[in-house]
Amino acid sequence: MSMSDTIYIKSKSEIEIMRQAALIAAGARSMGRQAVRDGLTTRQIDKAVHEFIVKNGAKPSCLGYAGFPAATCVSVNEQVIHGIPGRRTVKNGDIVSIDLCATYKGFVGDCAGTYPCGEVSEEAKKLIEVTRQAFFEGIRFAKVGYRISDIGAAVQEYVEGNGFSVVRDFVGHGIGRSMHEAPEVPNYRAERGRPNPRLVKGMTICVEPMVCAGDWHVEILSDGWTVVSRDRSLAAHYENTILITDGEPEILTMADDI
Ligand code: MF3
Ligand code: CO
Repeated sequence: MSMSDTIYIKSKSEIEIMRQAALIAAGARSMGRQAVRDGLTTRQIDKAVHEFIVKNGAKPSCLGYAGFPAATCVSVNEQVIHGIPGRRTVKNGDIVSIDLCATYKGFVGDCAGTYPCGEVSEEAKKLIEVTRQAFFEGIRFAKVGYRISDIGAAVQEYVEGNGFSVVRDFVGHGIGRSMHEAPEVPNYRAERGRPNPRLVKGMTICVEPMVCAGDWHVEILSDGWTVVSRDRSLAAHYENTILITDGEPEILTMADDI
């Protein structure tokens, strides 16, 4: 992903629009979550998300982004991210990751989550919970006075402490008028020589742990999009758009059921 190095600090009025875009994205994620049901296709999940976004006056930012063919990335089991919705039916015991963006009045909200279909294995339950909690561990450091890498270090430590691994090939990102802005927000400790900016009030970023139950290596399927764990172990994803303030971070894509 090539992006400009400029970190755009949002003004009060821009933040207000970001809040609205993020709220729509969060609502769309809830719709997707409710559509994770035995017998429904991944395309039906996408449809529920897409309709919610449009009904709320926003645009599904993923649709057509770099040629992606849908509003929602729907990734099942060993699929980590960027699954293409289609005819595949979700079954009891599957875990389903839903990732979407909504553009509203020129600003983008982005969120993701992994949800169980019916009763899932103990390992799957733990993976979902650890991935979600890793986000909250990470954002303890999403404050003025810390650097971007403090977030990733906390995510990595928590995930590895629970016996799972963090994906290295994909990272979180700044967000605003574009879905992807600087800075990159890795889910691992800073690598020497990589940019590691300080967090500043008014930054809006996406923190998005991508976690494998087994090894962290991933590969891309022949459809050109779907990212799967190389060892085909289960994977989960959890993402929110957050705002750096002069106190605790504000989770812009928060909803009461995620
Ligand atoms: N929501 C994803 C992200 O964070 C992007 C999906 S890729 C797309 O970064 F091509 F589907 F847009
Ligand atoms: Co994102």
